[in-house]
Amino acid sequence: MRFGGLKAVDDVSFKIREHTITGLIGPNGAGKTTLFNSIAGVYTPTAGQILFKGERIDGLPPHRIFHKGLVRTFQIPRPFPEMTVLENLLVVPPSQCGESFWNNWFQPARVREEEERNHDKACEIAKFLNLGHVLDLPCKNLSGGQQKLVEIGRALMADPSMILLDEPGAGVNPSLLAEIIDRISELHERGITFLLIEHNMDMVLNLCDPILVMANGRLLMEGDAQAVRSDPRVLDAYLGGEPEATS
Ligand SMILES: Nc1ncnc2c1ncn2[C@@H]1O[C@H](COP(=O)(O)OP(=O)(O)O)[C@@H](O)[C@H]1O
Ligand SMILES: [Mg+2]
Repeated sequence: MRFGGLKAVDDVSFKIREHTITGLIGPNGAGKTTLFNSIAGVYTPTAGQILFKGERIDGLPPHRIFHKGLVRTFQIPRPFPEMTVLENLLVVPPSQCGESFWNNWFQPARVREEEERNHDKACEIAKFLNLGHVLDLPCKNLSGGQQKLVEIGRALMADPSMILLDEPGAGVNPSLLAEIIDRISELHERGITFLLIEHNMDMVLNLCDPILVMANGRLLMEGDAQAVRSDPRVLDAYLGGEPEATS
């Protein structure tokens, strides 16, 4: 992915295996967000291919990728902070957009049924995420960690097979962090594939296998926590790649 003369993601090639929690780490400016945006359809890569379940998705608009079951939370319209947790879950578009339009036109009874089903689903997801007791609170009243859980809940409303998570641990207190890690593990056990960008090394090393390491737009290495921890190139990238702006 080029931006003018800059190759933000340069000849990066990897596969994400189904039913993994794959981590994506690297110093600032490594190209992680650009890679996420390319996968989610925000950018059309200037070269190369992206395949999801064997099908090319590069160049597709974000909503088409969303409806294939590859969900990044921002693909869902951003909620008003004044909206309640329940409302935030219910605004997620259903995974089959065309179908609900036709239902609406011809079968009002089925639409009501579907609304009820959606409501039940939202409540169930909220309960699973330990948000059952805050369903009717405006989102802005929740802690940072609870808001991360709402984001995950919103992704789950779309019945995704794969979720892209951008820093699920950022700004989250330790006890809620443990909760988030736990929920991600359980969803993973239920068959959802994750790709997550995270700066919290503990979280990455505990949760992710494999881990992709990027630096300067390139894929530096791929391996399990042990391999990443002991690879001198990784340490180099973090120490050399981004000097602290102190002296
Ligand atoms: N929309 C953009 N236009 C121009 N340059 C960009 C754009 N997005 C990112 N970049 C550049 O691409 C490089 C990778 O950025 P980014 O993907 O945000 O890295 P990371 O998420 O790993 O910190 C950086 O040099 C950044 O300045
Ligand atoms: Mg980034």
